[in-house]
Amino acid sequence: MNINKIAYSAFIAFVASLFTLVSISALSSSEREEQDDTDLDPITLDELAEHDSAESCWKAIHGRVYDFTDYFPDHPTDEEVFLEWCGRESTEGWDNKRPGVPHSARAESMLDEYLIGRLVDEEGEPLEPEAAPEEIVEDEEREARLSPAEDERLHRALLGLPLDGRYRGVFSDGGEMQVNVQFDLRDGRMSNISYRYLAYRGVDYRQLEEDDELYAVLEQHRQLAERLEGQPVTAIFALYEPERLADDIDGYSGATLRGNKVHSAFRDALNRGVYSWP
Ligand code: HEM
Repeated sequence: MNINKIAYSAFIAFVASLFTLVSISALSSSEREEQDDTDLDPITLDELAEHDSAESCWKAIHGRVYDFTDYFPDHPTDEEVFLEWCGRESTEGWDNKRPGVPHSARAESMLDEYLIGRLVDEEGEPLEPEAAPEEIVEDEEREARLSPAEDERLHRALLGLPLDGRYRGVFSDGGEMQVNVQFDLRDGRMSNISYRYLAYRGVDYRQLEEDDELYAVLEQHRQLAERLEGQPVTAIFALYEPERLADDIDGYSGATLRGNKVHSAFRDALNRGVYSWP
């Protein structure tokens, strides 16, 4: 019992000291970052731009400015890869030595040695990489020239998968439009399902009053739509067995409920392709 108590206390003391150590180190590192930056010399984009060559190569990375003139011959790539960024806000190059691949922790640890200042705007306020106008323009341009390799809509079309968008489709028979559905598709799931038209032998079901004997049919069609809401598009196959989707299929309405007509209207919508981009 006593040994258990001692072991327990030792364990608690160990956890508490670990916690204290972690807190202290987190606190001191964040303090250090803040202190460093206010002590650093302010450097504007114009000043930075004057150092854009192998003779003097400055780069701004994450709001700090570095003089890499001495380091540059050691960089493990062709000269141009490194020189291209001299005199510029270079966070993007630093964070993407290859697209999406940042520099290693080892490279990161080398930065401090070359630190000379912090990047500021004309008013002397810190300039974060996001605020650099050059970067914003680059983002917009990248968006505008989305290549076929990046365009997800093209990929879905090529693979025969339905695109995201709003769809409309109908089931017609005997010269009469009977079902007209509309729904939205997002990531392969259906939403906002509604009937734009629902009729049989000249009776528009959507106009029926609650006391009409055919009203149950309208209710059941609405249930079909409700149960498909939020489902993957493949769920429309359940419409072949409407009793799996709608309650209260009695003898009368069971004979009139035509899940397969609704299914057909959904398939028609998908065949037609996107009606609009909501
Ligand atoms: C800002 C523009 C820069 C670009 C575009 C760039 C690009 C590259 C490329 C293409 C590689 C080789 C490919 C690879 O390892 O996968 C590389 C590796 C490396 N770079 Fe840079 N670099 C830049 C700046 C710097 C700076 C300023 C330093 C030093 C402080 C540096 C240090 C290193 C190191 C140590 C490696 C070896 C791999 C690693 O540790 O990540 N680079 N860089």
